[in-house]
Amino acid sequence: MNRIFSGVQPTGNLHLGNYLGAIRNWVRLQNDFDCIFCVVDLHAITTWQDPAALRHSTREVAAAMIAAGVDPNRNIIFHQSANPSHAELAWVFNCVARMGWLNRMTQFKEKAGKNRENASVGLFAYPNLMAADILAYKATHVPVGEDQRQHLELTRDIAQKFNHDFGVEFFPIVEPLIQGEATRVMSLRDGSKKMSKSDPSDMSRINMTDEADAIAQKIRRAKTDPEALPGPGVLEGEAKAELEAARPEAVNLLRLYSSLTDKSLADTLAEFEGAQFSHFKQVLTDVAVAVLGPIGAEMKRLTDDPGHVDGVLAKGAERAREITEPILKEVWDIVGFLRTRG
Ligand code: TRP
Repeated sequence: MNRIFSGVQPTGNLHLGNYLGAIRNWVRLQNDFDCIFCVVDLHAITTWQDPAALRHSTREVAAAMIAAGVDPNRNIIFHQSANPSHAELAWVFNCVARMGWLNRMTQFKEKAGKNRENASVGLFAYPNLMAADILAYKATHVPVGEDQRQHLELTRDIAQKFNHDFGVEFFPIVEPLIQGEATRVMSLRDGSKKMSKSDPSDMSRINMTDEADAIAQKIRRAKTDPEALPGPGVLEGEAKAELEAARPEAVNLLRLYSSLTDKSLADTLAEFEGAQFSHFKQVLTDVAVAVLGPIGAEMKRLTDDPGHVDGVLAKGAERAREITEPILKEVWDIVGFLRTRG
């Protein structure tokens, strides 16, 4: 059976990039796979998190999944720290993965920056925990953004080395389901940067809980250029790369529209060829509000009733533990730990 595992960190405002790049896709995958969706709070604390903000954010991410249409009865929604198997298996993987492998991880280099000596050990070992998240369930497919490809390759290396070292065919070799470029949402202020929760300007992103007037204001003020919109001809040959280099903000807004309406970029270009941004932005605002409005309202309703969200998470955690416990018992056996685990 094909099983999906994916995770989102509870580290701040969820925005349109998280929705179009991850959560919306999960809603679609639930029809074809047995899905486990995790709020990865253990990963969040690899960099400092205020405890109250972490609690709030954990519930908010769960609420976003439910509000967007992930059915908690058909799928498992839970938070990572509620299932001890993740941290336990991560320890075994700390002893399987090699320093050299982790030293090559570009995300660690980016996040640690110049001051590597001061990064937490957890930030360095982050990919081992991610491998444990996935392999504790023997998941076969992992939907992630392009930036996580290297971590998934590491997951495959860990599974292979474990299987090889212990002479077993135990862990599956996972397949990434990489989200396409079309779902890469860029900052509204700078088309060369990803839309991000850590951007100091709130005008750079559309949050999933933004009200209609905030969405309208952000799109109205989004950076553009004075020229009219191009037609589908720009997708041919070199022209596309030139357009992306010259007008990244325009391309971002066109992609956003395509993604929100599930149209191809070519269809969007045909629809707005020669239009002014003022017109296009108005139409884009309408679709953004139509898609996000109901989800944001439902998220607020759910976060106002934390008891309900906590109930969903508790049920999810129980089902998660039921899957991983027998797998962890086998791992313990394979590694040579005594069978007194219970
Ligand atoms: N590292 C992922 C991210 O930042 C989040 C994550 C943690 C994850 N564990 C995972 C994603 C397991 C997929 C599978 O986006």
